[in-house]
Amino acid sequence: MSKIIIKNEEELKGMRDAGRVAANIRMDLAKAIAPGVSTRELDAYARDLIDKAGARSAFINYPGPRGVPPYPGYTCISVNEEVVHGIPGDRCIALGDVVSIDVGVVYKGFIGDNAMSVPVGVTDLRVLELIEWSEKSLMNAIEQAVEGNRLSDISHAVESTVAPRGFGVVRDFVGHGVGRKMHEPPQIYNFGPPGRGPMLKEGMTLAIEPMVNLGTHQVEVLDDGWTVVTKDRLPSVHVEHSVAVRKGKAEILTLPD
Ligand code: MF3
Ligand code: CO
Repeated sequence: MSKIIIKNEEELKGMRDAGRVAANIRMDLAKAIAPGVSTRELDAYARDLIDKAGARSAFINYPGPRGVPPYPGYTCISVNEEVVHGIPGDRCIALGDVVSIDVGVVYKGFIGDNAMSVPVGVTDLRVLELIEWSEKSLMNAIEQAVEGNRLSDISHAVESTVAPRGFGVVRDFVGHGVGRKMHEPPQIYNFGPPGRGPMLKEGMTLAIEPMVNLGTHQVEVLDDGWTVVTKDRLPSVHVEHSVAVRKGKAEILTLPD
């Protein structure tokens, strides 16, 4: 088990700047989601936004697991039954879809990583509830990212917010430490009992990312080696913030201007 990296104030400033860039691009990309637009077009738009911001995509060419080619997109765009790591392509957005966008950038040596799920027009009320409760679970989890708490207090906050509402918490994918590299220790599960794992310390920076399904929590990976979908093909939601552990109150790094 490698150690969680603590950032000093200078490094936290860098994380804040990278987080703001990632958040602004996330919001601009969200506004471009509309019926008839392909996920490839959205990704190309994100590429231009990232470029204009003087940043780089943290995702493109990211190494895949054994035998899987590197990640081919600038962002991840996951529609409906796609949970995370949706590869941008020919799929066109339709009315009633829920579109999860995941934007990770490298800016001046630091990573900002964030995601949100956007309903397109008139959407199933239960899907709107899924989005609302997933966002609530992220906020409750972030509230736990304070010095003196344990890592699994974050995990427990996610599960205890959404599970009682009948939603399925994805267990096969996790949040993570974030810093000069996109994936630093620790892994952050979105379920489990509170009060376990390493003690949280000021200066730890974490990407907290609940993935919550309308139906079963079970997922599978498509033949492309990347796209994660729900086993029952019911919709899924993904929300993510990069945050800094502080004394008393966590700091959200991926807030837009
Ligand atoms: N936010 C995701 C993560 O933290 C995005 C990674 S996509 C990848 O894992 F393509 F870069 F792997
Ligand atoms: Co992430």
